[in-house]
Amino acid sequence: MRKQIAAANWKMNLTVDKAETLLDNIISANINLSNDQLAVFAVPFPYLHLAQNIIGDNDNFYIAAQNCYSKKSGAYTGETSVEMLQSLNIKYVVVGHSERREYFEESNAFLAEKLSIALEYNITPIFCCGEPLSIRDAQTQNEFVAKQLEESLFIFSADDVQKIVIAYEPIWAIGTGKTATSEQAQEMHAYLRKVLTGKYGKDVAGNISILYGGSVKASNAKEIFSQPDVDGGLVGGASLIADEFITIIKSLK
Ligand code: PGA
Repeated sequence: MRKQIAAANWKMNLTVDKAETLLDNIISANINLSNDQLAVFAVPFPYLHLAQNIIGDNDNFYIAAQNCYSKKSGAYTGETSVEMLQSLNIKYVVVGHSERREYFEESNAFLAEKLSIALEYNITPIFCCGEPLSIRDAQTQNEFVAKQLEESLFIFSADDVQKIVIAYEPIWAIGTGKTATSEQAQEMHAYLRKVLTGKYGKDVAGNISILYGGSVKASNAKEIFSQPDVDGGLVGGASLIADEFITIIKSLK
């Protein structure tokens, strides 16, 4: 059975004291998660170790990196390898967030390399996809997002692709306060599962968690997560407020 995941994406926010307080507050809420529910925190690189210590051995809580490089090691100043993440016991990494695609020109082919090395090191990638507003307005979002999947994911075997978490994040809904309706989210998630079914079959597609991202908050999480093909969310702004994110975690189905 696929996992239900509440993933926080802190992006480039919070100083160390604030990061510590935020995570402490969320952990002390003693949220009980069932075996198929997870809370994941994608924190800035300098806080990985600290965050890992704060969550300690809390079941079903994990720390993620927000990015990684495609090479194992070497002369790549400023980059972070999955080997380093593995050595810190980090289990998740966000790959291909739209901000990485836009500001750092990360292509589908380059992201496929990152996914590949993450899987090699047993780190679960949270692979982001999603269309800009111009594509949504032209009503070609299905083709656009299917291409992102085809070019980054379809090189993987059925076994490997099931280890990847997908996050559908329409760019027009990120940080804008403009959430996709739960119907729009469900429609795209069902379509993505259909694309995955076409390539890998129903069982494999049914095992892949597909998260929704884009202005998820405490007040809309339950409605969005209740959709049959939505397996939780990747949350930016609202994950920086303890009470908001606690409610979002508790909204997992
Ligand atoms: P948001 O960001 O929740 O602030 O819209 C989501 C994301 O970018 O992952």
